[in-house]
Amino acid sequence: MPKLKSKVMLEFLNQRRTIRKYTDKSIDAELMNRLLEVACRASNTGNMQAYSIVVTTDAEIKQQLAPAHFNQPMTTQAPAVLTFCADFNRFTKWCEQREADAGYNNFQSFIASAIDALLVAQTFAIAAESEGLGICYLGTTTYNAGEIVDILQLPKLVVPIIVITVGYPAEMPELTDRLPLEAVVHNDVYKDFTVENIDRLYAEKENSEFYKNFVAENNKQTLAQVFTDVRYTRKNNEFFSEKFIEVLKKQGFF
Ligand SMILES: Cc1cc2nc3c(=O)[nH]c(=O)nc-3n(C[C@H](O)[C@H](O)[C@H](O)COP(=O)(O)O)c2cc1C
Repeated sequence: MPKLKSKVMLEFLNQRRTIRKYTDKSIDAELMNRLLEVACRASNTGNMQAYSIVVTTDAEIKQQLAPAHFNQPMTTQAPAVLTFCADFNRFTKWCEQREADAGYNNFQSFIASAIDALLVAQTFAIAAESEGLGICYLGTTTYNAGEIVDILQLPKLVVPIIVITVGYPAEMPELTDRLPLEAVVHNDVYKDFTVENIDRLYAEKENSEFYKNFVAENNKQTLAQVFTDVRYTRKNNEFFSEKFIEVLKKQGFF
């Protein structure tokens, strides 16, 4: 691989942030095509390209998608909403047309195609950001995948995995924090965390004014409780798990 001449790429990646507000400027079709082509250079399972990307720019369809994303404003405000899907439909059809026995209607194939979809999505995100665009992932995609299947008319063996909203930034939010590297990197083998490790690794986050306010605003005692009781609750996780499994069954992967 040719190496970039300077540290520009690393510095650029180290400064990136999610953008949730966009100007009215639309994205030139040529630029969008270029970004999609570059995104498709991403590694993918067996070079089968078991993914598809639905690019939605039509205001009416964005409106229809909005409730599936819990009406997050980016869905309608962004000039383009990209739904990255796990897709074994196209590949299966090709196999069937070539007297090849396609065995991709199973969970292993779903995972492989979901990984492909995520890799192409993240490559698109970096490419878009490098061209001055701002992006936001929408994790609501798997919460309401069934509704998105209907709106985008996704056939069997196609399941939406993640959405990226993209447009020209109308905000420049602060960089968000990250845990120290030792919280996420293990050398050679996994070293499980002691009580003291956990306290130390989360101390900076917990002691920041930003998160102290966040805990107070949510009327909770600890930051962890904001996650467990407000943002990502057991009840919701279990409800949306069931819902997603039903989508996988309906779409023929499970
Ligand atoms: C899989 C995934 C799902 C996400 N879903 C949402 C979402 O539904 N709404 C939102 O505003 N941000 C969403 N985000 C953005 C994250 O909140 C954001 O990346 C994180 O807070 C770190 O901030 P940063 O990207 O600015 O560094 C999502 C990010 C990922 C990777």
